[in-house]
Amino acid sequence: MPKKTIVLGVTGSVAAIKAENLVKWLKEIGRVIVVMTEAAKEFVLPKELAKTSGNRVVTGLFERYRKERETVEHISLAEEADLLLIAPATANTISKLANGIADDMLSTLVLATKAPILIAPAMNTDMWENPIIQENVAKLKARGYRFIDPAYGRLASGRMGKGRLASLGRIVKESERILEEKKDLIKKRILITAGPTQEPLDPVRFISNRSSGRMGYALAQIALDRGGEVILISGPTHLIPPSGAEVINVQTALKMRRQVLKNFKEADIFISCAAVADYRPKERERKKIKGGRTLTLELERNPDILKEISKKKGKKILVGFALETENLIKNAKAKLREKNLDLIIANSYSQAGGETNMVKIIDKREMVQSLPRLSKEAVARKILDRVVKLVWKK
Ligand code: C5P
Repeated sequence: MPKKTIVLGVTGSVAAIKAENLVKWLKEIGRVIVVMTEAAKEFVLPKELAKTSGNRVVTGLFERYRKERETVEHISLAEEADLLLIAPATANTISKLANGIADDMLSTLVLATKAPILIAPAMNTDMWENPIIQENVAKLKARGYRFIDPAYGRLASGRMGKGRLASLGRIVKESERILEEKKDLIKKRILITAGPTQEPLDPVRFISNRSSGRMGYALAQIALDRGGEVILISGPTHLIPPSGAEVINVQTALKMRRQVLKNFKEADIFISCAAVADYRPKERERKKIKGGRTLTLELERNPDILKEISKKKGKKILVGFALETENLIKNAKAKLREKNLDLIIANSYSQAGGETNMVKIIDKREMVQSLPRLSKEAVARKILDRVVKLVWKK
């Protein structure tokens, strides 16, 4: 196997003094080319990193141009990279990337590359917790940039807090995992529903549920990373959809049903992650309902989209979710049978919500795989590992 190329971006955080060790460790898993920002040079000398990496260190955007009239080094590096790792990443670099600014070699490279990008931030706790930085991190995550969040510990200022560069061991392990990541969904079309639906009562009110849409969006992101073509049919959420997915926004269960039926024919895999409202108000008032009197609402059943789809299953793979407040496994198994699913992801209400999830994957033989508490991205990877195995069997 030829060695993979890791382009390591080093920026001007105190943690840049660890760059030499990081390069040594990364060399165990690939060829390392270091790119440094101006500020990083305050903490470590380019010639030291050149010696350790065994490769030239790229610092300026125009240095090759000055020497050799070669103008496109950022493009050749962008193409060469199998992974672009930025460690340590400062608040400044993160914010530039979140806004598409390309004013030095590293930020230009980020815009130009198609390689996966892994960012390990390091900064003072207050800076890390600053809402602007958190928003920029969230924006980058939604665009498929991966992060190794900083660790808790003593910072350069002497204070304790979150902001230390994650351990080099974790950074190297995560890099290795990304380099070995499979492209096992190429040419597969994956239809995913996500988020809640909203069922209007009148022009300003609706019935809905607490689904954030994060699990479905994570599935869309990971399916894209693995080479799949993704159609994401989403109820209303506050999330930025992953770039590369075809996104169809809907509000109600009836609209979601229509879009699922329309797109199902072309799909190889359908993952029904949306929390579709089971009921909708029978009447939708044209004017805002007035207060003051007791109001009795009559609700009617929404169609069960997944059940309807399961009748047209053919050779397609169907994955459903079951969120339960009681008898999790029993209820999930019943839904698996009723909706003729290949897999059902059982999710206890007490474990759901937030950035992580703890689920069980149940297959057609009703074998239960219990996963530990994981990030929603990691859960998505486990689910797609199982889906891929089924694709191979068909
Ligand atoms: O029966 P229950 O609503 O718990 O089933 C959950 C599964 O069925 C989920 O995969 C959900 O996306 C799907 N579903 C649906 N249409 C509905 C209700 C649920 O497709 N009306």
